[in-house]
Amino acid sequence: MAAIVKEGKVEIFLERFHHYKGPGKKQAGFYNPALEIDRDLNVAFCEYVAAKGAKKFLDGLAASGIRGIRIAKEVEKDIEVDINDYNPKSYEIIKKNIEMNGVKANALNENLCILLQKRRYDYIDIDPYGSPIPFISCMLRALKKKTFVAITATDTATLCGIYRKACIRKYHSIPLKGQASKEAGIRILIGYIARQAASFDYSFRPIIGYTHGHFFRVYGIMERGARKADESMKNIGWIYWRDGWKISDFEEMDEKPVAGPLWTGKIYDYNIIEEIEEIIRKKELRKKELLLKLINFFKEEAELSPLYYESAFIAKELKIVQPKMVKIIERLEKKGYKAGRTHFMLNAFKTNAPYSIIKEIFR
Ligand SMILES: C[S@@+](CC[C@H](N)C(=O)[O-])C[C@H]1O[C@@H](n2cnc3c(N)ncnc32)[C@H](O)[C@@H]1O
Repeated sequence: MAAIVKEGKVEIFLERFHHYKGPGKKQAGFYNPALEIDRDLNVAFCEYVAAKGAKKFLDGLAASGIRGIRIAKEVEKDIEVDINDYNPKSYEIIKKNIEMNGVKANALNENLCILLQKRRYDYIDIDPYGSPIPFISCMLRALKKKTFVAITATDTATLCGIYRKACIRKYHSIPLKGQASKEAGIRILIGYIARQAASFDYSFRPIIGYTHGHFFRVYGIMERGARKADESMKNIGWIYWRDGWKISDFEEMDEKPVAGPLWTGKIYDYNIIEEIEEIIRKKELRKKELLLKLINFFKEEAELSPLYYESAFIAKELKIVQPKMVKIIERLEKKGYKAGRTHFMLNAFKTNAPYSIIKEIFR
């Protein structure tokens, strides 16, 4: 049934509307309400990049056009927004939605890879069904000296090791199954983006890499320069299990790793996240409280070591009842280690303590 949905400051016409819980079904003008929280974050991120001088924005896989239309309407700067989808029906819906919301934006009806051969952008959004891989090398041809990007992946089962062969085939990386698989999954995605960028002599630096429900999403910066790309490659490495999670860099593989290659560096830029948080606080957003909670997690995680430990898993191994999360963190900090929670899993924690110490404080 046709419907009009309200989100942020816009109203969007849809040919058909369903209440999805997961990634949703493919259809012209597709709209997934589960991603509203990300579109709120997206608007704040775009306001941040516009303040840094970005002018030309692309919503490359637009469906109903909601991301691009929200950016055009809600970013309080003078910017140009292209909104593209190759599906002719979606294109008609995008035009209608641009007109209905009275925003300054261009509807385009091209195959994204062809469009990216012809135009360059300061911000590129890639929000596909499933994996973003088919679009990443195309995107690298449309970069300026510095371009901000936002990339979604909904093939989380592949990235989290359920489909190991698919992960090796598509992302050229061995996934992690079990403890910390979600974080390893997003690090595989970021690692893949960074390695592809490096092969085009671009660096990639993530600003936020996160998961919510069924998707992974990465916000970051690509910058031209072989030296910068070499620097960014220093963040590619391997994961080992040696009395807890350990990482090594790409060239230093001294024993068989459990996963990788993947991004081992920071996945949150604390200072930029603080600026984005300020923008969010000033905006009227339906998911504001939930989004601010997530932002709090990102800031906490920015200071912690990569990869988390799952409390239920450890308690099962030790055949004991799991202590409360606050107690676990308190005990680790008392012993002089860093520890904190993670948005990847509520019943998990991050720490730089060895696994032997973790087990000791569990008992
Ligand atoms: C997941 S939907 C986008 C959802 C939208 N960004 C949102 O926030 O609601 C993916 C869209 O990409 C479009 N698409 C897929 N492959 C494409 C290509 N090669 N070029 C342009 N559009 C494409 C599909 O028609 C579909 O509308």
